[in-house]
Amino acid sequence: MSLFLPDEAATNAFATRLHAALPADIAGWTVLLEGELGAGKSTLARALIRAFGHSGAVPSPTYTLVEPYKLDCGSIYHIDLYRVAAEEELRYLGWNELEDGLRLVEWPDRAPDLAARADLQITLGYAQAGRSLDLVGLSERGSVLASKLTS
Ligand SMILES: Nc1ncnc2c1ncn2[C@@H]1O[C@H](COP(=O)(O)OP(=O)(O)O)[C@@H](O)[C@H]1O
Ligand SMILES: [Mg+2]
Repeated sequence: MSLFLPDEAATNAFATRLHAALPADIAGWTVLLEGELGAGKSTLARALIRAFGHSGAVPSPTYTLVEPYKLDCGSIYHIDLYRVAAEEELRYLGWNELEDGLRLVEWPDRAPDLAARADLQITLGYAQAGRSLDLVGLSERGSVLASKLTS
């Protein structure tokens, strides 16, 4: 599935639709956010975290690697692996402790093990003044969700 998002409001609207399509129990879901710097990965993550009911700031996890959100619906982990150079650096991150929530992962290619178990891949790209969005289901439940969002 491919979409054109003409402006940031369209990105936010897509996040609202994605939130509505995700199940009530988001534990163990992993969404990969791909695309170059400035493509809109953090914008989409922020809008999705807000759609789940978070009203405060959504700081970039670039330096902390993980920003956790404890919400009524469960936990969300916003992960940004841009600064990770080698996979060994991730050994102490405690991935297993992030199993109870929804993981939104920017620069997932830095963590192939995590990417291999993901449900959805969202790729953002520059398209004129806006952005393109490609959505691919990676797991069975991810594919079901992707087709729900297409219809
Ligand atoms: N659909 C869109 N069209 C145009 N600009 C957008 C769109 N979505 C987001 N932006 C803008 O693009 C930039 C994306 O930054 P950011 O989300 O931090 O990117 P990334 O996390 O991929 O590096 C922000 O300035 C945001 O306002
Ligand atoms: Mg980002």
